[in-house]
Amino acid sequence: MRVLQVCAEMVPLLKTGGLADVCGALPAALQSVGCEVRTLLPGYDAVREGVQVSGTAIDCPAGPDRQPAVRVIPATLRATGHKVYVLESPAWFRRDGGPYLAADGTPWPDNALRFGALGRVAALLGLGLDSSWRPQLLHAHDWHAGLTPLYLRLLAAGRRPPASVFTIHNLAFQGVFPASAMAALGLPGSLFHMEGVEFHGQMSFMKAALVYSDALTTVSPRYAREITSPEQGCGLDGLLRARQAQLTGILNGVDYDIWNPATDALLPLRYDADSPQGKLAIRQRLGQALGLRERPQALLFGAVTRLSEQKGLQLLPPVLDALVAQGGQLVVLGSGDTAQEAALRAAMDRHPGDCVLCTGHDEPLAHQIMAASDVLLMPSRFEPCGLTQMYAMRYGTLPLVHAVGGLADTVTDCALENLADASATGFSFGDFTSQALAAAVRRAFALRQRPDDWAQVRRTAMAARFDWSRAARSYRDLFETLLNRHPDTASTPRAGASPVRSP
Ligand code: ADP
Ligand code: GLC
Repeated sequence: MRVLQVCAEMVPLLKTGGLADVCGALPAALQSVGCEVRTLLPGYDAVREGVQVSGTAIDCPAGPDRQPAVRVIPATLRATGHKVYVLESPAWFRRDGGPYLAADGTPWPDNALRFGALGRVAALLGLGLDSSWRPQLLHAHDWHAGLTPLYLRLLAAGRRPPASVFTIHNLAFQGVFPASAMAALGLPGSLFHMEGVEFHGQMSFMKAALVYSDALTTVSPRYAREITSPEQGCGLDGLLRARQAQLTGILNGVDYDIWNPATDALLPLRYDADSPQGKLAIRQRLGQALGLRERPQALLFGAVTRLSEQKGLQLLPPVLDALVAQGGQLVVLGSGDTAQEAALRAAMDRHPGDCVLCTGHDEPLAHQIMAASDVLLMPSRFEPCGLTQMYAMRYGTLPLVHAVGGLADTVTDCALENLADASATGFSFGDFTSQALAAAVRRAFALRQRPDDWAQVRRTAMAARFDWSRAARSYRDLFETLLNRHPDTASTPRAGASPVRSP
């Protein structure tokens, strides 16, 4: 089965969050269960530098008026040999700043066109742009690739397009643009209505994906249920309820070639469940490097996170004094929201030597905090899946989480019954309040007073496996179901989708 993955970031080329980890790991996992996967990516400098060109550039038919010419370059990843198509458009993708945001933190003003082009070119590849390789199915990730299924239908011009699957990694980011973007993207005005791409008077890439994809997935079973409720549906819960029969939750996996304390090259020392001494030594080194007071008995809490309202670190300042008073230390590596950073810094600065806040995106430090800490804090307000709590378990660092989304699906709380049957892997709390977080922190200290129980929970956490092979089989089975249905998408709209005429 030939699958074209469409995404805006991918490890090891470019990463702003878990989306890149997933898009980096999924192709090989799918490959090992019988799928042949290629990936279409925007041609950022980081992407161009990480690939080896392997074929002749293919010019794409002109887009709507005034859009720069684009072409796709067949290439392979230098690191893994994975085959990719690089969407080449220097005007759109080769600039200083982030993939989505300019250096001042504001979204690039032409994001609708940049990512509209990603969807349009994905659809062209789906319809045979590369005569040597035509995918049978397109798998698009998050709003950046959200126009893929719509363009597939628009550009099919009576032919049968390949099937489309869209994965929601985060419903909170929707790619919403002024209605005027419709014309610039070459989308017919007839689609600008409630059953189409209109969203509160604007147009939404996310909504287009939810309406026009053959199947929808998201990254944990619990989040798949949560987003059909008004509380977590970000205004799209009605549509998601209407498409519930096409929506599946497939839990992300962990790439244990990257996240494994026994082989991790980003750690100064390696360790495993059978030889955990290395963990202590890493903690000592990191403590020294970051200026933590030497307190070998202290419980070290860590967090590696985007700083955003989603990740819930706003709950932390009121808890911090008690955390330190009980004998805790805290290291946070975070980047993002400057207001959240300032609030956190003000609280942490009250405890010099016991609390350290590091900012920016730092891959080696992320691995070292994961390895050095006793407890990983992840009090997210909502969490589609979350990868760091699963990484933490592998590193013998017990996750402390708000029980939502993928966090609820992956962490088993240290309740007495879970300690009794040795299923506990961490700490979870129910109410999204600082009081509930504080209580969970107290339970972490209480468990620490019971060294045998602590060691058992750590063993269970380190032995837990969230393999990509399980997730890959679920995706493969879903893909096969779609292909077996042989949908004639050009003439038959699917459930939940509005008919689309070719422009
Ligand atoms: P999300 O994608 O919502 O940010 P995930 O838990 O799915 O959350 O994935 C986060 C990924 O980004 C993990 O690989 C984590 O290690 C990494 N990460 C988050 N913040 C940083 C940072 N400041 N520096 C380095 N890596 C980070
Ligand atoms: C998003 C979500 C996160 C998830 C990641 C990968 O960034 O916020 O929960 O783990 O995507 O699917």
